[in-house]
Amino acid sequence: MSEQPPVKTHGDALENLLHEHRAFPPSADFAANAVAKPSLYEEAAAEGPEFWARQARSLLTWEEDFTETLDWSDAPFAKWFGGGKINAAYNALDRHVEEGRGDRVAIHFEGEPGDTRTYTYAQLTEKVKKAANAFESLGVAKGDRVAVYLPMIPEAVITMLACARIGAVHSVVFGGFSADALRSRIDDAEAKLVVTADGSYRRGKPTALKPAVDESLVKDGHTVTSVVVVKRNGEPVQWTEGRDLWWDDVVGTASAEHTAVGHESEHPLFILYTSGTTGKPKGILHTTGGYLAQTAFTHLNTFDLKPETDVYWCTADIGWVTGHSYVTYAPLVNGATQLIYEGTPDTPHQGRWWELVEKYKVSILYTAPTAIRTCMKWGRDIPGKFNLDSIRVLGSVGEPINPEAWMWYRTVIGGNGGKKDVPAPIVDTWWQTETGAHMIAPMPGVTATKPGSAQVAVPGISIDVVDEMGESVPNGSGGFLVIKEPWPAMLRGIWGDPERFKQTYWSRFDNMYFAGDGAKKDEDGDIWLLGRVDDVMNVSGHRLSTTEIESALVSHPSVAEAAVVGASDETTGEAVVAFVILRGSAKDDDDIVTTLRNHVGKEIGPIAKPRHILVVPELPKTRSGKIMRRLLKDVAEGREAGDSSTLADNTVMTQIAESMRK
Ligand code: WT7
Repeated sequence: MSEQPPVKTHGDALENLLHEHRAFPPSADFAANAVAKPSLYEEAAAEGPEFWARQARSLLTWEEDFTETLDWSDAPFAKWFGGGKINAAYNALDRHVEEGRGDRVAIHFEGEPGDTRTYTYAQLTEKVKKAANAFESLGVAKGDRVAVYLPMIPEAVITMLACARIGAVHSVVFGGFSADALRSRIDDAEAKLVVTADGSYRRGKPTALKPAVDESLVKDGHTVTSVVVVKRNGEPVQWTEGRDLWWDDVVGTASAEHTAVGHESEHPLFILYTSGTTGKPKGILHTTGGYLAQTAFTHLNTFDLKPETDVYWCTADIGWVTGHSYVTYAPLVNGATQLIYEGTPDTPHQGRWWELVEKYKVSILYTAPTAIRTCMKWGRDIPGKFNLDSIRVLGSVGEPINPEAWMWYRTVIGGNGGKKDVPAPIVDTWWQTETGAHMIAPMPGVTATKPGSAQVAVPGISIDVVDEMGESVPNGSGGFLVIKEPWPAMLRGIWGDPERFKQTYWSRFDNMYFAGDGAKKDEDGDIWLLGRVDDVMNVSGHRLSTTEIESALVSHPSVAEAAVVGASDETTGEAVVAFVILRGSAKDDDDIVTTLRNHVGKEIGPIAKPRHILVVPELPKTRSGKIMRRLLKDVAEGREAGDSSTLADNTVMTQIAESMRK
């Protein structure tokens, strides 16, 4: 058990954030041509939820208009746009074709080996219709769940939209998760169909996905009746007759005629699992109308999207919420042209991303601070070899962006290596799997941006920073980030566990959503995010639970006890560091650390493998038996351990220090 609430101490980098005073106002030219005007904030404040009703009607095409904007009578379970009927796939596809935009490129795809495909809106619509027919022919009906375990290839987007079209609920599982993690997600959602691929390309090598699906379905008692397999890398696969089908056989031969019918505004669109403070991942549930309205609105306004001329590129994998909201849904709903890239930024060379920006004339780039810091490490000469002049807006997401990385991003990428007079504005977007869409973000033509701060609530969103008692803190003070009013893209609950939804987000403060983040208001009232205040770690912008990794470690027969902390890391934000107490004979096993790292990889996935595993004789605990992670974090970050006076046995820290020296 952990200390409750285990408030994290923030590293020096975050302390430095608070001494940052630079601000960059938009250029007159950018402001004059911007999609978002300052009046948006006033309109949103004056209109309340009706502001969102107006956005929902202007940005989306409804089969039946809604009759009620917001029903909050069963709080915290919100209903947005009640009485309305809408089809997400129709909004992302058909309507663009019907309205004469069928020849516009929807997706430029670039595979890691350099193979390319282009889909216009008309072509993508046809593909999705075929996939919708194929899935229906396999018995998938409205409300059924479909697990998606695919690499970053167009079929991932096609599959998600085909599900949305027929009202099936997709549950995308990141390809970096293990067979065990996939199975627990299949079981929790009771998925009928799994869509996967033979594999993918990563770092120049074919990697496999299908074997993990096979392994996950070995044990009986699952709900899967079909597995559809995209051929991506041609690696040999095992085949279960009667269950497995090649995509080309079932989708390729399906009819291209399919009429999209409207689903209720609150019809479930997808489930996406994310780590919480307990061992069991939460199935975050999102529904249709409100989610589409807020994702489309923010994509348009935060990124200043001009769909006719922009080329947008979000580097996130569809396995994460960013890939749902800002790859599959909002860009297509807004009729944008986007780039999808399958592989890693350093294959075959460290300039691959910038080569792609030059090749496709990317104008809006949305990525994560960890990627920016990695590119910083590789050096500015690498992007310097490419023409990045097309870039006009830069986005950041996933974790706080330190001012150094922000300035590098601005000058080297947004300023084309200093060759541009006016570098592109950076929008730092704070949001979560649970919020569905941007919640805090500057508007590029309105806000004077500050390096390291997400700054202001999106128009129509009510954000605050409160103290322990839930009282709003004054400017210049820090506390907990909360959301005070329901928002359209908010999660509608945790799949199958309404109590856990209330408990996790709505019990800490009365009538407020508790995000789990610490934040500070500066003297201007702008918001600076300070990282998680709970047992959730953020490694390279990916959310990992300390408890989940601890459970994985103690499930190994050699481990008696385990404690996991996130230690500050220059590149990845945080790194997973585990402290373990071994059982008897395991103490003599020289390979135990490797064994345990692989075990975590198998239980959860390679992304959860601890950077360091330290074998210790004891763990620091309070008299009531709670592990004092704070002290372990000090050790993991190479500091003198802090106040240990509440330890049951205060020799423990000395014992740990001694075992470190061995
Ligand atoms: C957590 C949510 C939102 C998509 C990617 C992550 C952290 C996210 C920022 C930001 C500071 C950020 C928070 C949040 N986070 N964006 N711009 N500045 N922190 O989604 O996996 O649901 O994680 O990521 O700690 O709670 P997620």
